[in-house]
Amino acid sequence: MNKKLETIRQNVIECTKCELSKTRIKSVPGKGNFQSNVIFVGEAPGKNEDENGEPFIGIAGKKLSIALEEAGISREDVYITNIVKCRPPKNRIPNTIERSTCQEYLKKEISIIKPKIICILGNTAFNSLLGGSEIIKFRGKLVRKDDQLYFLTIHPAATIYNQELIRVLKSDIVKLFHLITELKNNKEVQIDIDYSS
Ligand code: URA
Ligand code: SF4
Repeated sequence: MNKKLETIRQNVIECTKCELSKTRIKSVPGKGNFQSNVIFVGEAPGKNEDENGEPFIGIAGKKLSIALEEAGISREDVYITNIVKCRPPKNRIPNTIERSTCQEYLKKEISIIKPKIICILGNTAFNSLLGGSEIIKFRGKLVRKDDQLYFLTIHPAATIYNQELIRVLKSDIVKLFHLITELKNNKEVQIDIDYSS
């Protein structure tokens, strides 16, 4: 494992910088391949993640794995993390203070891994990273902001009781890896939204 990421991991495990540290069982550092071309960013750990200290290992995580398989990608190939690293009580949406306190970890993960694309999973990550809302209207799009590319898709948890949405997630993930292949081959990709100043 990458040394700097290992340091972040340890810092997250021991972190008490926000209120969520009081109610969590385990904090959940990001996990995966530090040479990945893509970082997936979810919202916050849920029950299973809180108990085990690993991101996306519950039902939502299973949906993410299924969508990755559709694109011929294994979870070990990519890096997966969350906006906040500790579970909010009753899985409520993390508040602004918790998100801003935790963001230094995500910023560091991004600056070490330097992904070609950050894949935003759902509204909380969309709002926290790009100030957006209503991801369902913007999903499938490639965004540029300050020399970083972002790809927008729905949260895997949204697909749990909705067969239509699992098809949406799968086709978005296939598109994401198609874009990554184009970027690796130095091909031009179409930017759908440009937030750069
Ligand atoms: N949902 C998330 O947003 N993140 C996880 O790690 C698990 C479920
Ligand atoms: Fe620290 Fe983030 Fe956990 Fe808050 S959510 S205690 S900032 S790791």
